[in-house]
Amino acid sequence: MRAVQIDRFGTPDVLGIVEAPEPEPGPGEVLVRTVATSINPVDDKTREGAIGEGTPPLPLTLGWDLAGIVVDGGDSGLRAGESVIAMSHQLGSGRGTWADLVVLPAHAVATAPRSISLVEAAALPLPGLTALQTLNWLNVRAGERLLITGAAGAVGGLALQIAHARGAKVDALVSRDPHLTFARDHGAGLVTTDPRALADRAYDAVFDTFGAFVTDAVADGGRYASIATQAGPVPDLSSRGVRTTVNQVREDGEGLSELAELVDSGSLRVRVHSSLFGLQEIRAAHERFLRGGLEGKVTVAF
Ligand SMILES: NC(=O)c1ccc[n+]([C@@H]2O[C@H](COP(=O)([O-])OP(=O)(O)OC[C@H]3O[C@@H](n4cnc5c(N)ncnc54)[C@H](OP(=O)(O)O)[C@@H]3O)[C@@H](O)[C@H]2O)c1
Repeated sequence: MRAVQIDRFGTPDVLGIVEAPEPEPGPGEVLVRTVATSINPVDDKTREGAIGEGTPPLPLTLGWDLAGIVVDGGDSGLRAGESVIAMSHQLGSGRGTWADLVVLPAHAVATAPRSISLVEAAALPLPGLTALQTLNWLNVRAGERLLITGAAGAVGGLALQIAHARGAKVDALVSRDPHLTFARDHGAGLVTTDPRALADRAYDAVFDTFGAFVTDAVADGGRYASIATQAGPVPDLSSRGVRTTVNQVREDGEGLSELAELVDSGSLRVRVHSSLFGLQEIRAAHERFLRGGLEGKVTVAF
């Protein structure tokens, strides 16, 4: 089978399509044939060697997101032929999803949304789980005020929609004008590109997707979660009674099922900027990702 691997770090040129042995599922595992995947910031950082310690040994198959068809569901309850989505914690396990066949623990796999294609669904797992798990940590309740920074990015755009569906009053800090429109259209109240426009100590919770560290905005006694691992820790706000974290995404099939239901009920729209067809397009997909200016994810159909 084909797999996208790196044997050294660098530009998208280091991405190679190699012939790899087919994986065999063990107890508690599911074998999936990949239909599509997407590019995430972590794939870019891993490829260029920016992760440093914690990168599994090379050569390494890349990829976290997966939308595909079950080949062997084992005792998971998933049937052969079923459409599924999954997120593999590739840096933790070394199991990349950019391969024709992928074995994953059953708890990391869920039935795919029925209302969108697998190519679109491939844009959901990693950013969706990050949004969902971080919102759960923030424990935002209906009527509470939430600020999301980077609210039109992959994670932020999903977090905005989920929080809105939960009844939170969401404000948004975004980077550029097209993102103002997206955030307004998806339920944000105040939407700004200027951090100085944010009121002081006004938010019960802040979901920071890019390391803005707008700590003045969180209310005393509130919660502040960053996902920008490489920006470092959130400043200590314990003197103001603010709980802080840098949240790390986990494999989570139940979370994926919840996301799929939100998609199918119309509460969550998955945004795809462009889809490339054929695994040979993986370098082009990385190059498109690197150029930035995206209004959604870059997906690759196998
Ligand atoms: N801890 C974890 O488990 C975890 C999981 C997933 C992602 N992450 C990390 O979280 C970050 C976001 O991921 P993502 O997939 O959502 O990336 P993304 O799609 O690039 O979203 C980031 C958003 O932040 C915006 N932004 C960046 N700098 C800004 C600034 N100075 N002011 C206003 N907006 C700004 C970007 O705008 P532009 O498009 O204009 O640049 C973009 O809309 C990445 O660093 C990723 O590695 C961590």
